[in-house]
Amino acid sequence: MTSKTESPIVDQVTFDIPSVKDGTSMWELVNNSSLDQNSPYKYLMMCEYFSETCVVAKEKDKLVGFITAFIPPQRSNVIFIWQIGIDSSYRGNGIASKMLNTLVERESCKFVCYMEATVTPSNEASQSLFKRFARDHDTTCEVTTGFPEELFPEEGHEEELTFRIGPFS
Ligand SMILES: CC(C)(COP(=O)(O)OP(=O)(O)OC[C@H]1O[C@@H](n2cnc3c(N)ncnc32)[C@H](O)[C@@H]1OP(=O)(O)O)[C@@H](O)C(=O)NCCC(=O)NCCS
Repeated sequence: MTSKTESPIVDQVTFDIPSVKDGTSMWELVNNSSLDQNSPYKYLMMCEYFSETCVVAKEKDKLVGFITAFIPPQRSNVIFIWQIGIDSSYRGNGIASKMLNTLVERESCKFVCYMEATVTPSNEASQSLFKRFARDHDTTCEVTTGFPEELFPEEGHEEELTFRIGPFS
């Protein structure tokens, strides 16, 4: 699916399955963003064990965006987007939307008809991204309580709302 507001920059970008060599760049992109920090190991592990449900977006050899995602055990019709991030200088060009569409079109997602993700109430960009995916796929986006604030050990972590989009084909 081609997004309605894709900029020409998207044409310079490739969308692929990651290899473990991409793990460090994913971790670095997260360090330079508002996303939750994780250990470098987490990215290597996703690239090794969940590569078919992860995406790397690159301009030449430069990583400009990524998705880490998985299909929850026992729920083979759901893709859970764990993290999605775009290098700050590449945002607003439709790259994240294209990554989501590339992912759901893969053979690994052939049984997937729902997308889930958790988003903090203050993250407008992320909320717009998932609502737009729902719109592009002519389906609904249901928002429910995901992980309330008190589940997080650190002070001041916002609650995470669950966005469930679908069904889509
Ligand atoms: C969220 C993020 C991945 C979006 O990536 P992107 O490539 O800029 O997104 P797209 O260009 O595909 O835009 C998708 C939609 O989001 C909207 N959007 C993008 N940035 C926005 C912003 N800062 N504020 C409000 N809406 C925004 C776009 O307008 C578009 O919606 P529209 O078609 O209705 O206009 C990117 O902003 C990012 O990496 N943010 C930091 C990390 C993060 O918060 N990740 C999500 C955690 S779950």
